[in-house]
Amino acid sequence: MISVRDVIVEYGRGTKAVRAVEDVSLDIDRGESLALIGPSGCGKTSLLFAMAGLHQTASGTIGIGGLPVNGPRKEIALILQNAGLLPWKTVLQNANLSLLLNKEYPEKTADAVLEDLGLGDVKNRFPSELSEGMKRRVGVARALSTSPSVMLMDEPLASLDTLTKERIQDLFLELWKQHQFTLVLVTHDIEEAAFLGQRIVVLTECPAHIKTVVDNPDMGNLAYRGTESFLNIVGQLREALEE
Ligand SMILES: Nc1ncnc2c1ncn2[C@@H]1O[C@H](COP(=O)(O)OP(=O)(O)OP(=O)(O)O)[C@@H](O)[C@H]1O
Ligand SMILES: [Mg+2]
Repeated sequence: MISVRDVIVEYGRGTKAVRAVEDVSLDIDRGESLALIGPSGCGKTSLLFAMAGLHQTASGTIGIGGLPVNGPRKEIALILQNAGLLPWKTVLQNANLSLLLNKEYPEKTADAVLEDLGLGDVKNRFPSELSEGMKRRVGVARALSTSPSVMLMDEPLASLDTLTKERIQDLFLELWKQHQFTLVLVTHDIEEAAFLGQRIVVLTECPAHIKTVVDNPDMGNLAYRGTESFLNIVGQLREALEE
């Protein structure tokens, strides 16, 4: 489904180019959930933005569904760290933004998705009137509104308190199972990677290349946290990151 081949991502050109991603190759199956974890500043966002078609690779190729990615595509949704809400628009208007930009869904609104995510009652509020967890869910509603087959998330739950974070991680798990999108989750949170990634790719310091890949076959249910296999995966990830 997603094929990343020998990808290099750089900022700037020539001798002044800063390399953020180096020789990364990855195959991600349709419907798979993959977590990308690595040190701060290693190149996670750069790799994800290249997959989203927002940043051109300096070399190598990225294909999604058999077609090369060379710009944003409607079946690819991206959720950013701060949810990217516009303060002057209501919850519903914010959630409708992707639909508006796509112009392919003149009739569709995000109302039903907002209901599903428990935000129906606040759809006329502004972002400043929401809790942090609610804001993140509005970002999720926006991404889901176009029924994407690929969901890319860049640290979507950074700086939330633990309980809110775990509640939204549970929501992500349920949405992933329900909608069967291919999920690529960038996170610096080891437990989040272990809870949500069927495979977890550990990246090196900048420029990011793949240090190791950890399989996590027992993930996929809400009771996974606290089980022996979960703790084992967390241990493996910690070790790989500290190496
Ligand atoms: N627009 C840019 N111009 C120049 N260098 C950049 C740019 N964006 C990122 N970089 C550099 O590329 C490297 C990787 O950045 P990136 O944002 O991809 O890392 P990250 O792993 O997402 O970091 P974080 O964990 O802080 O989110 C860093 O060294 C950064 O300084
Ligand atoms: Mg980042």
